Amino acid sequence: MLIFCGGGQISTSQKVVTDIEQKTALPPLGFGTADLKGDIREIVLNAIQSGYRLIDTAAVYGSEEAVGKAIREAADRGLVRREALTVQTKLAPDSHGYYKTLQGFEESLNRLRLDYIDVYLIHWPVGRGEEETYREKNMETWQAFAELKSKGRIRHVGVCNFLERHLLDLIGSGYGCPEINQLELHPGYQQRGLVRFCRERGIVVEAWSPMGRGILDSKKFIAIAAKYGKDIGQLALRWSIQKGFIPLTRSSSLRRIAGNMDIFGFEILREDMEELDALNTNDGYMDIWSYKRQQMY
Ligand SMILES: NC(=O)c1ccc[n+]([C@@H]2O[C@H](COP(=O)([O-])OP(=O)(O)OC[C@H]3O[C@@H](n4cnc5c(N)ncnc54)[C@H](OP(=O)(O)O)[C@@H]3O)[C@@H](O)[C@H]2O)c1
Repeated sequence: MLIFCGGGQISTSQKVVTDIEQKTALPPLGFGTADLKGDIREIVLNAIQSGYRLIDTAAVYGSEEAVGKAIREAADRGLVRREALTVQTKLAPDSHGYYKTLQGFEESLNRLRLDYIDVYLIHWPVGRGEEETYREKNMETWQAFAELKSKGRIRHVGVCNFLERHLLDLIGSGYGCPEINQLELHPGYQQRGLVRFCRERGIVVEAWSPMGRGILDSKKFIAIAAKYGKDIGQLALRWSIQKGFIPLTRSSSLRRIAGNMDIFGFEILREDMEELDALNTNDGYMDIWSYKRQQMY
């Protein structure tokens, strides 16, 4: 059962895992496929074998085809049925608008060679070259998303990197509220106001780059991880889960793929959560064009 756009507070710890799984029917942890090094099909197959049930890809990652192959191979080998996997992909930022969205969706589906997509997301709120028209474009895209969903071709519709003003446009469009917002979230960049806004509207929050950008190498982070007998990546993922996010993590290393699943048997104590929370700098990834446009428009 889903409670998207219905509100609901998510608090702490193990309970969160249960809440996220029960309330959203989404797996509590996802495997990301941007910038994987090596044979992507093999890596994703390994992730599935290690227990990941949510696979995140995007039109712009160049990984959709390999993800589709891994899913079919996993099914053929009897590891997991396709229906037991949540496959999520994203509309490219240069494909906004009604017809381009429909075309972009078909192209993703063809590359994945699937019959339907579990979660379809708008990758960024402002597409290339559409700074002046992005609001209209987003409305058109959202209408196309709603139609695809009503036809059963998408199970859940959502967005990435949408700020409050971008979300409000969609919420007021008459085509439904986004069910998911996928955001850069880690102890160094917590976007607390935006997360609160999403929570109040029952929008599920996914966390991309949960391992942060350098902050995990701080002495404080390393010391807290050691206290729990975990590595810094595992601590970052556990922090994310206790925050009520669905973290999406990525690794090209078989050891880390498996190790990053081993985060459900411990709980970060409140005082340590507070120490990790204090690492927030509110300094996101501002040096890329998509982030600049997100902030400007
Ligand atoms: N919507 C968006 O705009 C957006 C933007 C960026 C990313 N994403 C999605 O989010 C996914 C995750 O983000 P990300 O790729 O930045 O992932 P991440 O998990 O935060 O970082 C991956 C990096 O951390 C390393 N790593 C993995 N496990 C580790 C561990 N236990 N200890 C130390 N280091 C570890 C990996 O190296 P090794 O490979 O060597 O293990 C890799 O260099 C992406 O793959 C993509 O699917 C979405």
